[in-house]
Amino acid sequence: MTNKIFGDKKINIRRISKSDLKRLKLFQEYINLLIEEKAMLLLNKKQTLQNEKDFIEKTLLSQKNKSGVCIIAEHDGKIVGLSDVKLKPLAKNHIGLFGISVRQGYRGIGLGKYLMSEVLKLAKKELLGLKIFELEVYKINKPARVLYKKMGFKDIAKIPRAIQHKGKLEAEYLMMKEVK
Ligand SMILES: CC(C)(COP(=O)(O)OP(=O)(O)OC[C@H]1O[C@@H](n2cnc3c(N)ncnc32)[C@H](O)[C@@H]1OP(=O)(O)O)[C@@H](O)C(=O)NCCC(=O)NCCS
Repeated sequence: MTNKIFGDKKINIRRISKSDLKRLKLFQEYINLLIEEKAMLLLNKKQTLQNEKDFIEKTLLSQKNKSGVCIIAEHDGKIVGLSDVKLKPLAKNHIGLFGISVRQGYRGIGLGKYLMSEVLKLAKKELLGLKIFELEVYKINKPARVLYKKMGFKDIAKIPRAIQHKGKLEAEYLMMKEVK
């Protein structure tokens, strides 16, 4: 897709593709690093190579049938960021669920903001019937909350005790943005 400079790093940003099925180890290393870090994601269990194969296959299929888009960032032979939007099922398939992560050491240099704006643009262009973007975020995840507000997402609901994190039950915000 494109090469862009963030801080002092030249980062390659592209769509997930069939060739990624040959790079399962890179995907596994990326997600498991986030899990070890206890980054504020939904996933909290180490992922296997089979999990990564399933994730990539499902994502490729969703791109093919216009129900999902996914981009990744790479640097130095490593995955350093990933962002996606997936249409929810059935009577909720006008809602695109957004997700993002950036590798430690690559945060705070504008990569997350860029990935987010690119994946939202791509979703708007490609996802059939998309009307609303939605995301869920831990109340205590300040960097993510700041980014999402800057990108025009609004708080819709606060759900107390919604997610387990470091032995505590943390609140989550449901945030939405109209697709215009
Ligand atoms: C949330 C996350 C994706 C942000 O990505 P990032 O690349 O660090 O963000 P950026 O550098 O593009 O910064 C985007 C904006 O967020 C804000 N921000 C970034 N880091 C911040 C921090 N530590 N505290 C407060 N605000 C912060 C800045 O205001 C910035 O806007 P600006 O560039 O206009 O000043 C990244 O921190 C991450 O992957 N965290 C772990 C996984 C995670 O929490 N994912 C989200 C789950 S809902």
